[in-house]
Amino acid sequence: MPQHVAIVMDGNGRWATRRGLPRTAGHREGVKAVRRTVEACARLGVKVLTLFAFSSENWRRPKGEVSLLMSLFLTTLRSEVRRLAENNVRLRFIGDRSAFSVKLQHSTAQAERDTSACSGLTLVVAANYGGRWDVAQAARALAQEVSAGRLASELIDADRFGRQVCLADLPEPDLFIRTGGEHRISNFLLWQLAYTELYFTEQLWPDFDSAALEEAFADFARRQRRFGLTAEQLTGEVDA
Ligand code: FPP
Repeated sequence: MPQHVAIVMDGNGRWATRRGLPRTAGHREGVKAVRRTVEACARLGVKVLTLFAFSSENWRRPKGEVSLLMSLFLTTLRSEVRRLAENNVRLRFIGDRSAFSVKLQHSTAQAERDTSACSGLTLVVAANYGGRWDVAQAARALAQEVSAGRLASELIDADRFGRQVCLADLPEPDLFIRTGGEHRISNFLLWQLAYTELYFTEQLWPDFDSAALEEAFADFARRQRRFGLTAEQLTGEVDA
């Protein structure tokens, strides 16, 4: 069972277009799939679920679609936070929130506070997030430490760097899922996905349900994760 699952929820637009609906209808339907997936992860004992809700590049979409997404985030937060807290789900956001409206910034901070004592599933929403942004902000933070004389540059290695990127306090993602048929990471968690198992499905995000999630978990269970070791080392057939 994966402890941490990270998902790129792709295919909302196509789901709507195929039905002759505006793309925004796909995003609304996508919220229902988010609800189903959160519930299924909590039920199956997943510890962390990270969802890519809005990438740094999504600002380039048509204005109407961007503002619909923003109001969808706001209304979803308002309507769901209490239910999340009741279900012991802790909500966290990663990404540069300074680009969001003050209202949305407040709502996200409030939602984090309201669920901070929850000890069940941690739901991470990546909003205005980009993997390269994450790596750059980590580099900037370390550079500031060095120039302030608090850190010797020789001490910066992968371990120290990794403590500066988002989600450093959580287990790394075990399983990455992308719906919608594209086989790309699209600037999601670049640093954190180093050893993550990748799973791609043709299913469009609004069609994703607990059966699809369990199928992805079953596929994950068949993988052998070697972390750079040989298969023999892992099965203990030869001495390391
Ligand atoms: C990608 O589909 C989806 C998005 C850019 C938005 C994802 C947002 C949601 C599922 C809604 C709300 C989420 C939360 C956490 C409240 P696409 O539009 O790129 O689809 P396409 O590839 O078919 O065009």
